[in-house]
Amino acid sequence: MPHIKPKVTPIYQTSVFTFEDLNELELYFEQPGQQYMYSRYGNPNSDELAEEVNEQEGGAGAVVTSSGMSAILTAILTYCQAGDHVLCAEEIYGGSSVLLSQELTRMGIAVTYVPGDKIYTLATYVQPNTKLLLGETMSNPLLQVLDIKKLALETKQHGIKLVIDNTFASPVITKPLALGADMSVHSVTKYLSGHSDVTAGVLVCGAEEDYKRSRQIAITYGLNLSPFESWLAARGLKTLKLRIRQHAANALAIAHFLEEHPKVSKVWYPGLAQHPQHQLAQEQGNGLFGGMLSFRIADDTEAVNRFMQALESIPFAPSLAGVSTSLSYPLGTSHRSLSGEQQQKMGITVGVIRLSVGIEDVEELIADLGQALDKV
Ligand SMILES: Cc1ncc(COP(=O)(O)O)c(C=O)c1O
Repeated sequence: MPHIKPKVTPIYQTSVFTFEDLNELELYFEQPGQQYMYSRYGNPNSDELAEEVNEQEGGAGAVVTSSGMSAILTAILTYCQAGDHVLCAEEIYGGSSVLLSQELTRMGIAVTYVPGDKIYTLATYVQPNTKLLLGETMSNPLLQVLDIKKLALETKQHGIKLVIDNTFASPVITKPLALGADMSVHSVTKYLSGHSDVTAGVLVCGAEEDYKRSRQIAITYGLNLSPFESWLAARGLKTLKLRIRQHAANALAIAHFLEEHPKVSKVWYPGLAQHPQHQLAQEQGNGLFGGMLSFRIADDTEAVNRFMQALESIPFAPSLAGVSTSLSYPLGTSHRSLSGEQQQKMGITVGVIRLSVGIEDVEELIADLGQALDKV
């Protein structure tokens, strides 16, 4: 066979690797990183993805997982066991709060939600068994921006870890570890892979010991990512910076268009001067405000249906961060399992629509949104 030197890493679509003999097996254990044994423990494609994300986030090590949810689970299990307590920002992805409130409570890990206006003064929330606080750089769905540096000072003062879900921002906009967070987690399903064809997650650790523990948890619980999904995500990651710039430029133009539109009563986008954390987002986000925005039309289900039906090029697809624009409906999808009271408190009403702005020509997107709003 000729000496093959591929320009990109091929897909190592194998569940296991072979050894010459017992000596080679011993080398695997004595010199970690020199050989592979079993893909659940490690695979060249998942390692490549982990190393790339780790570099972009500036971590001590990253673990890739089968989904964003399994990355969040791994993060929590790295720091917590039965009898422990977790703090969580009140405005958070619905799946994260279901994991905490409905599943981890069954395993003896308690949770308390902290409202946005109390998040930098945690004294009344921290208990002797509190281990960490989970929050999002930019929250899903109403784009509240966390001051990670300030929050990291507060969590350190109370001796608890800070885990930041950086999915909406991506490391191009914000690097939580550099601001003092202990872990940065992602649904790789979103911007990092970027093409709506992968389900994956990653957690990036600031400390080597957390990385080792997280890796062990992901291996033991079987939360690893397949070689093919890893390869696809690593491929998407190569264009992250370019994509994020275009997502952000388009989203800003659309936010300006929507805020002037008579059928739109409110727009949530950190790039707008009226956004409560606009200044912070400007400083913390490298001058980029991301590709996600939410807006409210009439609080009337039929009006929402008319709007969705009238859109010609923007599908209703309950995910986000792909290269083509899509919209989602938090009340009926990502935040469906919250109580009516929680939804009201967060401001997620019948007319709230979440837009994941893609990288298309923005004039075409604005034209489509405009003609659909006219039919509301
Ligand atoms: C902010 C955020 N975190 C985590 C997740 C969960 O990721 P996954 O669907 O890849 O498990 C999502 C999914 O929408 C999300 O929006």
